[in-house]
Amino acid sequence: MSINILVTGGAGFIGSHTCVALIEAGLTPVVIDNLCNADAYALARIAQVADSRQPVAFWRGDVRDGALLDKIFATHPVHAVVHFAGLKSVGESVAHPIGYYDCNVQGSLSLVSAMQRAGVHRLIFSSSATVYGQPDRSPVAETAALRPCSPYGQSKLFVERLLGDLAHADARWRVASLRYFNPAGAHASGLLGERTAGAPNNLVPVLCRAAASRSESLTVHGGDYPTPDGTCIRDYVHVMDVAEGHLAALRHLDASPGASTFNLGVGRGTSVLELLGAFGRACDTEIRHTIGPRRVGDAAAYWADVELMRRTTGWTARRTIADICSDAWRWQQTLSRQAVVAARSTATAL
Ligand code: NAD
Ligand code: WQD
Repeated sequence: MSINILVTGGAGFIGSHTCVALIEAGLTPVVIDNLCNADAYALARIAQVADSRQPVAFWRGDVRDGALLDKIFATHPVHAVVHFAGLKSVGESVAHPIGYYDCNVQGSLSLVSAMQRAGVHRLIFSSSATVYGQPDRSPVAETAALRPCSPYGQSKLFVERLLGDLAHADARWRVASLRYFNPAGAHASGLLGERTAGAPNNLVPVLCRAAASRSESLTVHGGDYPTPDGTCIRDYVHVMDVAEGHLAALRHLDASPGASTFNLGVGRGTSVLELLGAFGRACDTEIRHTIGPRRVGDAAAYWADVELMRRTTGWTARRTIADICSDAWRWQQTLSRQAVVAARSTATAL
């Protein structure tokens, strides 16, 4: 009998890669996604990449729709839920806090209420290193001060606390909040990756775009930070490592009741200029760049302490910065080919 894992936001960047990892581990993802930041094509790609003859079970809808969730739980016997669905832009959350709290907090409340009704009590939650705000020191352990600097970060912390309260009140709950650092890269096949509506803000998609255009110049946000090369340092972790981290966390839930929180990173920092150099080598193109002013709100440097996750679940990130760059570049080339095909078919139609 198949073991179903309900994946909210499973058509999105990290969710789609996690679906691949689940199928490869012999589990069956059931996806709910409202497609506000994804395309349904990702679902066909998941099955293709994971070499699965079964199409992925997909429910188009919103996690705030309790009646739909009840229907999904009534249709599929669900073993556990992995909850990615949410909005994720720090800047947008500052401009639209109500929308962010509604989607991220109300969405999570709706989900756990439906799980409670259905008698499903295993949950992995996508949290973020953004709950630490500007950490005082690195590596950042799970015990570091929690000082989110945006409504987005607050929304993640609220949900972590809600899950902690649930597990405290009812011993049937087993929950793990995973605080991702900087997920990046794409599936090595080049068939799945990150889609950004409009101009990207995150560094790896910006690098992809600059390399694809060959003429576009990337602005490095600040070259005067107190770091060895003056640019910010982050912990970039390959999206397939993040995906596999969810498998490790699911196994952990089977053995451990209660609520736990883990960092998901590599445990090492990479500067903007180091990443730029690695990306240039991966695509064999020199990335044009200029050093601009600092971006408001950026911390100089932080990376994860990943010991707790390693000790508790055995998971560590296996892929390198070079893998992140070459896989992201392969995905960018797929996107560029798709854009050419779409432009040709529009021209033919005209
Ligand atoms: P994403 O936008 O690619 O994926 C989120 C998916 O959820 C999308 O497919 C979107 O259509 C869907 N969705 C959003 N709101 C929904 C709702 N109310 N109901 C149903 N579906 C909904 O983002 P991602 O990068 O894959 O991130 C996944 C999760 O991980 C998010 O919760 C995000 O906050 C968290 N996270 C991401 C990063 C990152 O850098 N990508 C870092 C830390 C944490
Ligand atoms: C990385 C570095 C930039 C673009 C964000 C969210 C965080 C989490 C992960 C969701 C920074 C520099 C970037 C560019 C640049 N998401 N940069 N030029 O800000 O570390 O984290 O994504 O939870 O909450 O805040 O990631 O990729 O935007 O930036 O120099 O054009 O690259 O200044 O130092 P960030 P990022």
